[in-house]
Amino acid sequence: MNPIPALRLQALKDLLGPGGFLESAADRAPFEVDFRGIHRGRTPLVALPQSTAQVSDFVRHCASQRIAIVPQGGNTGYCGGATPRAGNDEIVLSLRRMTRIRAVDAASNSLTADAGCLLATLQDAAATAGRLLPMSLGSEGSCTLGGIISTNAGGTAVLRYGMMRELVLGLEVVLPDGRVLDQLTALRKDNTGYDVKQLFIGAEGTLGVVTAACVKLFTRPASTATAMVALASPAAALALLDGLRDSLGDAVTTFELIPRIALEFVCRHVPGSRDPLAAAHPWYVLLEVTQPQADSGLAGQFESALAGAIDSGRASDAVIASSDAQRDALWRLRESIPEAQRQQGPGLKHDISVEPSRLPQFIEEGREVLARLAPGARLVAYGHLGDGNLHFNLSPAGGAQDTALVANGATISRAVHDLVARYRGSISAEHGIGQLKVAELERYEDPVALALMRSIKQALDPLGIMNPGKVLRPGP
Ligand code: MLT
Ligand code: ZN
Repeated sequence: MNPIPALRLQALKDLLGPGGFLESAADRAPFEVDFRGIHRGRTPLVALPQSTAQVSDFVRHCASQRIAIVPQGGNTGYCGGATPRAGNDEIVLSLRRMTRIRAVDAASNSLTADAGCLLATLQDAAATAGRLLPMSLGSEGSCTLGGIISTNAGGTAVLRYGMMRELVLGLEVVLPDGRVLDQLTALRKDNTGYDVKQLFIGAEGTLGVVTAACVKLFTRPASTATAMVALASPAAALALLDGLRDSLGDAVTTFELIPRIALEFVCRHVPGSRDPLAAAHPWYVLLEVTQPQADSGLAGQFESALAGAIDSGRASDAVIASSDAQRDALWRLRESIPEAQRQQGPGLKHDISVEPSRLPQFIEEGREVLARLAPGARLVAYGHLGDGNLHFNLSPAGGAQDTALVANGATISRAVHDLVARYRGSISAEHGIGQLKVAELERYEDPVALALMRSIKQALDPLGIMNPGKVLRPGP
């Protein structure tokens, strides 16, 4: 470890001013560990700048002193991308005090805000203007705009609206040398050379600090219908999605696969949860359709589409929410799965994607691999089926700790990722690389793509001060 000398720390504090940093061990503690408690590091102080100009001055100064910076939003990531690395003195730069909504422009369908704004706050601001900000995540009450851009977040409405990259119109970024990239516009069309702002979306803060963004808004749905559908298999689920797209087109907004075991874990561990259907089924889908028109006849079409699916044997049963409370209860079942898995005991997470049509076969092959390597564990394969993205997780079977599962974690994950590679899929569909999957990226990424990534990093951050060791191994 190379501690930052007191004099240099004092200079940082002077730059940030009173109220612009946190220093006591207790204040720093929540910024030094990731959300899952897996990654821990040390920051001698947490910088809390209040403006883009202040971020710029701070970063420029850190560059001149070769001080490493770790940008941090809501600290809800899964891969340790916003946590300082163990054994290094790195300064966490939190955007939490940058919370100004700069503009909501209903006519342009756009919203411009500081990076530290909570996603839920921005969803509310869009709603107040009669618009929809469609990014939707379990952590929306605590994740920030800068964080979801830096990780190119996905969530439960990607099927209809795309990932964060597709929602970003403009960006403001402080580069590793302190310069400010100002592309903070709501332009839908702009073909003036390379679209450089794209580099910072999903870069996990390794190329600069996102300080503000302009995002797309949409017409608010006036009709919504939600159901939990029981199915025999993931293949049946895909067939259902196909049929629904034929009958309802773009109205299908959410299509989330849930295995029986996940529903059982939720009912066991999350108070107030109950199985919405009378009989047990091997698979379920949380399905939501929306339309902008109030009297679109959506509810009727939805009901007959589901009835048709059950009659033809594509679905086994379904419950349609008949009130907001029922809709919320169905959503809670889906959104409680990560928490229920946490309570079930230490397990393994994999955030994989393959072409959606190949997911059923992948699940079967993956199940066989896991039966060999982790015979006692339970496969909890759930998530965004319509996007080809599953959380291919493992949990201990009993409530007890499964030491073999944790001890063999690296071997098991390697086997899952090798299978993903055979399908030409992704080993990180929506959670990023952070510090958790740096070696995995090196193993599975196309070497040409990896070389390009290193060239980009070198070009933008030649001193290697911006979130070092995340996504890519630090240079020599
Ligand atoms: C989800 O879809 O629930 C999250 O992305 C995955 C997780 O929390 O494990
Ligand atoms: Zn997910």
